[in-house]
Amino acid sequence: MGSGRQVAVFGAYGHTGRFVVAELRERGYAPLLLGRDRDRLLALAQTRPGLDGRQASVDDPISLDRALDGAAAVINCAGPFATTAAPLVEAALRAGIPYVDVAAEIEANVDTFAHFAERARAANIVVVPAMAFYGGLGDLLVTTAMGDWTAADEAHVAYGLSGWHPTAGTLASGTVSGQRRGGRRVRYTGGRLEYHDDALPTLEWPFPAPLGAQEVIGEFSMADIVTVPSHLAIPEVRSYLTAKAAADLSAPDAPTPTAVDERGRSAQTFVVDVLVRSAGTERRMVAAGQDIYAISAPLAVEAVDRILTGRTRTTGVASAGAVFDAPDFLRALAAHLELHTEAR
Ligand SMILES: NC(=O)c1ccc[n+]([C@@H]2O[C@H](COP(=O)([O-])OP(=O)(O)OC[C@H]3O[C@@H](n4cnc5c(N)ncnc54)[C@H](OP(=O)(O)O)[C@@H]3O)[C@@H](O)[C@H]2O)c1
Repeated sequence: MGSGRQVAVFGAYGHTGRFVVAELRERGYAPLLLGRDRDRLLALAQTRPGLDGRQASVDDPISLDRALDGAAAVINCAGPFATTAAPLVEAALRAGIPYVDVAAEIEANVDTFAHFAERARAANIVVVPAMAFYGGLGDLLVTTAMGDWTAADEAHVAYGLSGWHPTAGTLASGTVSGQRRGGRRVRYTGGRLEYHDDALPTLEWPFPAPLGAQEVIGEFSMADIVTVPSHLAIPEVRSYLTAKAAADLSAPDAPTPTAVDERGRSAQTFVVDVLVRSAGTERRMVAAGQDIYAISAPLAVEAVDRILTGRTRTTGVASAGAVFDAPDFLRALAAHLELHTEAR
């Protein structure tokens, strides 16, 4: 039996997994270190005395069941999620515990909704895909910006990144998603995902000061095009990425993130500028912070904390804005996120 404070982290020794493990410890949880590579797990456990490392593979359900024994929840940080999400959700359902992942893969996020919605609801278990920078944060911001609106004409999520030094996991997930799309692009328009071959537009996005106007790539679709329409009646959901960050991401031999502070964060900064529009009226929410990988940890851990303390609005597969009180959730991240609201 677990203490109720044990939270399993699959992919614990990955870049994001390490941030999640550190955040769980800071919040008084006992992380269980899960991963497929015994040596890498041992190496991580040696630098974190007292933590339990458990080898488990997505090809071996019994190893997953053993690894989740005693866990109150599981956070999946091992991507590509096209491979890891379904076996881990299955294991969470068998264990009867909530599942949260940080997947930024549109198709994998869609699959989690499609394959597990009914079973998770029937089992009264909360499953939250994309509970991270891409997908989760955008959804919380859109939901908050909506306020009392139940529907809107458009939602725009503009990512103002100072640059992007991607991890191996990010690049592998991008490759897998690209293959699943047959090299096509995807956007959310007319109330559905649409695959297309159109060139992506370059435009200027008016980020608030001090960032100001930046060149962005339009229809640079992120997980928000799954999470937002999963619970909000908005037929057009678009995301944008600063051209500099998009170029960094596709550069050959792109460098990996370099830690610049004691928390292990890189110097990367972000501004997420969210705009919702309904019948000519606009509402806006802006969040700013440092390091898109690091910020994913307080997002995922806050989600788990809220689930384990009953601060949820629904069960089954649901995105952040549907499960949680979005404005309250964002306020709880005040130590990590600078927030601004603006009507214009
Ligand atoms: N939504 C967001 O904003 C957001 C934020 C952060 C991260 N992410 C996503 O999270 C994933 C991890 O990113 P990262 O930055 O932590 O990358 P990373 O440092 O390269 O770590 C990847 C982790 O995934 C594990 N892994 C990969 N395939 C696996 C498999 N089949 N079975 C078990 N473990 C597997 C790796 O273990 P091995 O070393 O054994 O291969 C490693 O622990 C990526 O998909 C990334 O896109 C999304």
